[in-house]
Amino acid sequence: MSSVTVRVPAKVNVQLSVGPLRDDGYHDLVNVFHAVSIFDEVEARESERLSVRVSGESAELVPVDDSNLAIQAARALAKHAGRAYGVDLVIRKAIPVAGGMAGGSADAAGALVACNELWGIGLPLDDLMEIAADLGSDVPFSMIGGTAIGTGRGEQLSELETNGTFHWVLAVADGGLSTATVYRECDRIREASGEQVAWPQVSEPLLAALRTGDARALGDALVNDLQPAALMLRHSLARTLEAGREFGALGSLVSGSGPTCAFLAADAEHAADLAAAIAGTGVCRSTSTAYGPVGGAQLV
Ligand code: C5P
Repeated sequence: MSSVTVRVPAKVNVQLSVGPLRDDGYHDLVNVFHAVSIFDEVEARESERLSVRVSGESAELVPVDDSNLAIQAARALAKHAGRAYGVDLVIRKAIPVAGGMAGGSADAAGALVACNELWGIGLPLDDLMEIAADLGSDVPFSMIGGTAIGTGRGEQLSELETNGTFHWVLAVADGGLSTATVYRECDRIREASGEQVAWPQVSEPLLAALRTGDARALGDALVNDLQPAALMLRHSLARTLEAGREFGALGSLVSGSGPTCAFLAADAEHAADLAAAIAGTGVCRSTSTAYGPVGGAQLV
């Protein structure tokens, strides 16, 4: 086998409840991940060395040195297998870079699955998931996709049963936001307000909406504790969210740490109309539609 290609979805967080800051610099979360139909492709080609190339939307913003999460994933898997494997990773991006949609995590998950196949290691999913968790809090979810609750720092997953398909509009902003910076801003806002930070709890109305496939109820239950921080760092997002509400989105929120905003629509047609209306106001760089849930990292 000289080349293997894996397709990996983006995610939106339908609930992101952020608990107190932990001693290790992370926050305990209740993070309800939902995989949506925007996919990066990670191709692993036989090579003597470890290298990565990136093409597609805002590819120039992705580092191609050792800080690239897909390279780190390949290296971690080779180390686990105890061999000095090489690979040339070719990443084709559709997920917004540093957009709060787990694009970097998707590429790491894709690299794990692709290299596991290319190198013929055959490591079981449970072991790949452990390597994934060491790479980043969102990487395990990118492996499995669907809809799942992440606790701990988001890496301890339990899959959720959902019904039907939810239709989304994503509004992509210019440039990205650093996840670490957004969490720091969240801490700063909380400290300044003297607010007691509660232990995060799963939203029962949100779970019920997912279980019954009730888009209207899901729209009402969407919550993201990082949103005030993302809005503080990027004031223009308030207008983006406002445009969604104005044009009848069932719910609007910043996706993860942002700056992508996600809007829930009633159906595919409503999503297409909403995407066109929001794009027409010029409050974001571009809009696209997507549906979820979709499966995780998969060989193509
Ligand atoms: O795990 P990952 O490398 O994706 O996290 C990026 C940054 O986001 C962390 O360095 C940390 O600042 C912040 N983070 C956090 N609490 C979490 C997950 C991420 O504070 N549960």
